[in-house]
Amino acid sequence: MHDHIIITGATGVIGVELARQLIGRGDKVVLLVRSPENAARKIPGAAGYVKWDSDMETGEWTGFINGAKAVVHLAGKPLLESRWNEAHKEDCYNSRILGTRHIVSAILAATEKPKVFISASAIGYYGSFDRCEDTPAIIESGAKGRDFLAKICIDWEKEALEAEKTGVRLVLLRTGIVLSTKGGMLQKMLAPFNFFLGGPIGSGLQCISWIHIDDEIACILQSLDNSSYEGPVNAVSPEPVSMKDFSSRLGEVLGRPSLLPVPKFAVQLLMGEGGEYAVKGQKVKPGFLQTQGFVFRYPKLAEALADLVKNKK
Ligand SMILES: NC(=O)c1ccc[n+]([C@@H]2O[C@H](COP(=O)([O-])OP(=O)(O)OC[C@H]3O[C@@H](n4cnc5c(N)ncnc54)[C@H](OP(=O)(O)O)[C@@H]3O)[C@@H](O)[C@H]2O)c1
Repeated sequence: MHDHIIITGATGVIGVELARQLIGRGDKVVLLVRSPENAARKIPGAAGYVKWDSDMETGEWTGFINGAKAVVHLAGKPLLESRWNEAHKEDCYNSRILGTRHIVSAILAATEKPKVFISASAIGYYGSFDRCEDTPAIIESGAKGRDFLAKICIDWEKEALEAEKTGVRLVLLRTGIVLSTKGGMLQKMLAPFNFFLGGPIGSGLQCISWIHIDDEIACILQSLDNSSYEGPVNAVSPEPVSMKDFSSRLGEVLGRPSLLPVPKFAVQLLMGEGGEYAVKGQKVKPGFLQTQGFVFRYPKLAEALADLVKNKK
């Protein structure tokens, strides 16, 4: 196969939509996934469904890296989906660090290398803060954080950076909170709101740097198609808001009150150490995207939420 686009983590919130749009515009897409059968059901029309997992150093999958025009690497165990213990933290870390190491090794070994490697990262890179007001607006040159989430992102990016040594264009996609009704923070908040039990998570003072799923995909497509996209890219809207404001806007869009905060102790009871991160945030700006003149379809939160809820995106 030749000139195809590889996606890992393709059955996730971002991957499904990315694959769907690439297939829709006529690209040859090969999905490296843990269950090819599940991926074929979820994402019809790909040119290949190939078995891959983050702990697979070698296998049939390495052959598909050769001759690919691009690799979009999104795979990673969901961080905030379950209660944290040491085993969960290790799985989250290893699925990203080892997975990236193996993909990069295959890129380095390929005789015909992809032109671009887009590797997922997150705005957790910059650390996590309690209050929106105290948080500086961070662009890509911002300092690294020092907590566990930051360590994952820093080490994840370090593995990806190895790919640059062979001249492959590397985009480090530092994604914020992706808004989609199909998964992630928004999906979790919708159920209590629909039962008139909605409200902010934690103090409400933390900052939410969000991006509409359509803009996240547009940013990845630009990273694929536009050779001036290189290095760290903050994939966030230009309008970070406090959790309290986020929750109020969501209540307005749904026609429901935003009165019942989920207290910090309840989040921590549910998630253990992970709860620490669920009640913190970052105030991140899309510095790189703005220098590139990227046009956000949904720069404003109220419009983003209205579109997502109305169109069940
Ligand atoms: N969504 C967000 O708000 C957000 C924010 C910042 C960063 N990110 C990062 O962007 C990437 C994609 O996000 P997403 O929301 O689409 O993720 P997601 O819905 O959680 O999906 C991640 C995908 O990774 C694969 N995966 C899950 N557990 C794995 C494991 N233990 N080992 C290897 N692969 C595993 C799965 O793909 P297969 O089963 O198809 O193999 C899964 O569909 C993730 O790395 C995430 O950390 C997301």
